[in-house]
Amino acid sequence: MQGLFITFEGGEGAGKSTQIARLSEYLRAHGEDVLVTREPGGTPGAEAARHVILSGAAESLGPAMEAILFAAARNDHVEQVIRPALQSGRTVLCDRYIDSSRVYQGVTGNLDPQLMHAIERTAINGLMPDLTIILDLPAEIGLQRANVRRGTDVADRFEKETVDLHAKRREAYLGIAKEEPKRCKVVAADRPIDAISAEIAAYVDEVRALRKTTPAAEVVK
Ligand SMILES: Nc1ncnc2c1ncn2[C@@H]1O[C@H](COP(=O)(O)OP(=O)(O)OP(=O)(O)O)[C@@H](O)[C@H]1O
Ligand SMILES: [Mg+2]
Repeated sequence: MQGLFITFEGGEGAGKSTQIARLSEYLRAHGEDVLVTREPGGTPGAEAARHVILSGAAESLGPAMEAILFAAARNDHVEQVIRPALQSGRTVLCDRYIDSSRVYQGVTGNLDPQLMHAIERTAINGLMPDLTIILDLPAEIGLQRANVRRGTDVADRFEKETVDLHAKRREAYLGIAKEEPKRCKVVAADRPIDAISAEIAAYVDEVRALRKTTPAAEVVK
């Protein structure tokens, strides 16, 4: 049976890495074979693209170029890692996926929605997440957390951006959740870690229970 594909979204410092670690522990304790991966990255080709994007080298080339770089990385990651893992029955937890592109490049990069849509379709080739957890946090708190964690290291190009921009992205994530309420669950991230992971585990259990009652033909991508 095809594994579950769960993606984590939200701004910097929202708690994605923390909650992915929690959920993978929870699922492994229930005997599931879990693969944790992240975007941009996850394969040697995609990690190379990640380096180009996050170092700022692609910034001067413009948002379309950047979006296409992300998509190239994503397609490699999907076909080399995510799809094969799901097909062999593993649960895949992915740190950022299509919604990050929609929000970061689509909304704040002012790209043509039709171009964004075409790029997304090419990148994922039908592989939509079964569940997307959107960790929702006021921008100021996320930036504070990212700063504390970073200590004296230099900020990457996304972390240097303003609180205003982060607030716009937050709204964009909430907009996606409104449009796709079945796939996307918004989880308030400004709470104790345990409370958040309990809520996420409940959503995952719900999807797993649904999956057990759905004929296999409907879940094969
Ligand atoms: N619920 C929480 N309450 C307080 N602090 C938290 C909470 N969850 C995570 N943190 C802390 O906030 C910081 C950022 O968390 P984390 O790395 O999980 O976020 P992230 O979404 O993965 O960030 P990034 O997008 O930068 O990778 C870490 O120092 C983490 O320990
Ligand atoms: Mg992280």
